[in-house]
Amino acid sequence: MKSNSQENRKKILVIGSSNTDMVIQSPHLPRPGETVVGGTFFMNPGGKGANQAVAAARLGGNVRLICKTGNDIFGHQSQQLFEEEDIDTSYILSDNNSPSGVALIFVDNKAENCIAVAPGANGSLSPADIQASEKAIDESDIVLMQLEIPMETVSFTAQLASEKGKTVILNPAPAPAPGVLTRELLQHIYLIIPNETEAEIISGITVTDYPSAVAAARKIMEMGANNVIITLGSKGALLCNAESEELIPAIPVKAVDTTAAGDCFCGALTQAIAEGRTLGDAVKFAAKAAAISVTRQGAQSSAPYRAEVDVF
Ligand code: ATP
Ligand code: RIB
Repeated sequence: MKSNSQENRKKILVIGSSNTDMVIQSPHLPRPGETVVGGTFFMNPGGKGANQAVAAARLGGNVRLICKTGNDIFGHQSQQLFEEEDIDTSYILSDNNSPSGVALIFVDNKAENCIAVAPGANGSLSPADIQASEKAIDESDIVLMQLEIPMETVSFTAQLASEKGKTVILNPAPAPAPGVLTRELLQHIYLIIPNETEAEIISGITVTDYPSAVAAARKIMEMGANNVIITLGSKGALLCNAESEELIPAIPVKAVDTTAAGDCFCGALTQAIAEGRTLGDAVKFAAKAAAISVTRQGAQSSAPYRAEVDVF
């Protein structure tokens, strides 16, 4: 049962993927044809949508998640974990015809990773599913999405939610193919949060330094987005909008696994916006949460709780 003050928080609706991550922490990332022996195996809950929902919920967010899992052990396990995180699961869908999403992840001893995703049921989360869950959008204030579900579902939802006056936030990850993020979609986005690679693909501008990051952000704004935050890994994050342009540094830590750093950042940022913070303050809050997350192994398992961020 949530308290009154919790019920008064702005409501976040995350629409995205849920995966089970099979992770091998390995001395180095395997090259094609190479077998690397000597790793350690972990199985962790993941998926960009679920990771961002968990990050926001652990920081005090009033979070509802729409995702689609298979009707299998991984799907049932994820559902149970979301409930334990105090995430509203009433709109989560189950697909009898596809398995739950799975990601195979290698992490090396420099905290670098490489990931392959089999989307399974995530790939069948359709515009019709969102239409059938319209009430969930009506009841939310902020809608947060990524690109691990079909693009047509993201476009449909962005338009529907923005026309209803909702704050639509998009983390365009994994990187879309060039030209996929259209002006028509971007005009429905209040805030877009690409990393360097995604910013390059969307804007067509290679990001190598601060001026080129600003140029890419400005180009994405010209394409229709109101606010752009480009995450720059250990270099921090660039916030760009009509009023300002600011580089907010990352907090120096010893990274052990950067998997889902971007997810933690986006979930924390969304929660800070839900609390009414300015975008600049929200980025600072998100940078703290993401810095803590890279010091820990895994995706959802690395997301910090509110008390940890408040004293960091
Ligand atoms: P991923 O795909 O691994 O989830 P990403 O590429 O989407 O990550 P990044 O730009 O690497 O996202 O990181 C997001 C944010 O996390 C950064 O803006 C920064 O605040 C924080 N961060 C990432 N790496 C580090 C690091 N090594 N040290 C401190 N903070 C970090
Ligand atoms: O962003 C990290 C996530 O990407 C992992 O949890 C994995 O499931 C993939 O979706």
